Amino acid sequence: MTAQLNPRGDVAVLVPAAGAGVRLGPGAPKALRPLAGEPLLVHAVRRIAAAPSVHTVVVAAPAADVDSVQAMLAPVAPVIVVPGGPERQASVAAALAAVPAGPEIVLVHDAARALTPPELIESVAAAVRSGHDAVIPVLPVVDTIKEVGAGELVLGTVDRSALRAVQTPQGFRRAVLTAAHATAGDPLTDDAGLVEKQGVPVVCVPGSEYALKVTRPFDLALAEHLLSAGQAG
Ligand code: CTP
Ligand code: MG
Repeated sequence: MTAQLNPRGDVAVLVPAAGAGVRLGPGAPKALRPLAGEPLLVHAVRRIAAAPSVHTVVVAAPAADVDSVQAMLAPVAPVIVVPGGPERQASVAAALAAVPAGPEIVLVHDAARALTPPELIESVAAAVRSGHDAVIPVLPVVDTIKEVGAGELVLGTVDRSALRAVQTPQGFRRAVLTAAHATAGDPLTDDAGLVEKQGVPVVCVPGSEYALKVTRPFDLALAEHLLSAGQAG
């Protein structure tokens, strides 16, 4: 089976999509829940496939849904689908293990960031291509952040100017991500964290508001609005 998009592309995108979506409330696994009539994962993969550098897409699906996800995505783009694991990190590791020889840039991109523009995928990939081992898209933190202790007592105010909110896709030179996962310890919520532990420098590039992660019902409503307003491709 060939699961290749652009044969001249140098990027593999891993799409962890095996989470339950507990914070979204009861229902199907989050990546399979509808947004404007189509599963979040379909929106995400369509935008990934529109990025010209992408050679291969590997989706880590809920283990019970591998066949249905394969069938669901077949009309959208050629993809490899593997069963995910109990933690996001295990899902990413399973997808990474399925990347064929060829792409030397690997991006990890949450299915839940369903409206991420192809331009962001390209800009992260370009930053890796230009020589950075690890690249993350970030946004400035807009709220004031307090550190809080027991009894909700404020301990202090964090200097917001030094903080960034981190999105996906996170991009890596393939060998760097492979090495980080090979020695991974406790599960982390992002892949750059694993790479940081290896002592590899991680560089930030500008993120996108449209790369918001659908986590709670409010996020789903916002994503619906962005789509219906024609603002999210
Ligand atoms: N993910 C995964 N495998 C897991 C857990 C999460 O592939 N075992 C994926 C999710 O499908 C999602 C991405 O990692 O695309 C980011 O995770 P998150 O937003 O936390 O999604 P869920 O784990 O599904 O949500 P929740 O934590 O609310 O259950
Ligand atoms: Mg989760």
